[in-house]
Amino acid sequence: MKNRKKIYEGKAKILYEGPEPGTLIQYFKDDATAFNAQKKAILEGKGVLNNKISEFIMTRLGGMGIANHFIKRLNLREQLIREVEIIPLEVVCRNVVAGSLAQRLGQEEGTALPRSIIEFYYKKDELGDPMVTEEHITAFNWASTQEIDDILAMTVRINDYLSGMFAAVGITLVDFKIEFGRVWENDFARVILADEISPDSCRLWDTTSGEKLDKDRFRRDLGDVIESYAEVARRLGIMKDMP
Ligand code: C5P
Repeated sequence: MKNRKKIYEGKAKILYEGPEPGTLIQYFKDDATAFNAQKKAILEGKGVLNNKISEFIMTRLGGMGIANHFIKRLNLREQLIREVEIIPLEVVCRNVVAGSLAQRLGQEEGTALPRSIIEFYYKKDELGDPMVTEEHITAFNWASTQEIDDILAMTVRINDYLSGMFAAVGITLVDFKIEFGRVWENDFARVILADEISPDSCRLWDTTSGEKLDKDRFRRDLGDVIESYAEVARRLGIMKDMP
C-alpha cells in the first residue's frame, strides 16, 4: 500500500484517506470473520468479488434514488466513497426466517415471513452488537426520530428493489444488513446508505434448490464459499472483467 493514511480498519475492510476532502478509499480484504471474530479465515478473492458486487448494487440503488456513499470503483479491491459520519447501527431486514431470528425465537429456518421485519442492532463489538429498539436509539442519541424514519423508509425501498433484482436471477433475498451515515450539506445532515452490500452481509438462497450462496457457507463450514460468491456475481452479470 502506498503512503496513505489509514482511517479505520475493520474485520473485512480498511478505510484510507481519500484524494479529496470528504472522500475515503474503501479497501476490501480477503479476511472472513464470523461469530464476532471468534472464527477467522482468509478467503482468497473474496475482497475482489465483494468490491464488484457492492459496486453493482450501490450503483443500481443510486439509480433508483437511494443516496449512498459509493462514488466509483478504483481497482479490483478499492472504491472511492463519500466520507460519512457513521450511525452506530446495523439495520437488518428479513423476508424469511434464518440465522439469529430462527435461534432466538425458536422459529423454523426457511419460513417466509408474512411481512418483512426490520431490526436494529447497536454496533459495538465489545457487547456483541445487541439488538435495540427505536427508544434506545433516541435515548442515547445514536439517531433522531426523523433519521430513524428515513432509515426505515430507505430500508423498505432497498428491500423491495433488491428482492426483485435477485428474484430475477433465481436468488431469494432471505435477509441483509445495511449501515447508514450522515453527510452534512449546508448545515443540514442527511442520511445516506454506507458500508457494503455483498454476500458477506446478505443471506442469498438459490430459489430452486435452496442452496446457500452467502457467508453462511463460511459460518457453517459448508465449503465452496468463493465459488458461491462468484456464482452470485455471475448471475448478476458482473463477471465479465473479473480475473
Ligand atoms: O445473524 P443474523 O441472522 O442476525 O443476520 C441477519 C443478516 O445480517 C444476515 O444476512 C447476516 O449476514 C447479516 N449480518 C451482518 N453483519 C453482522 C450481523 C449480521 O452482515 N454483524
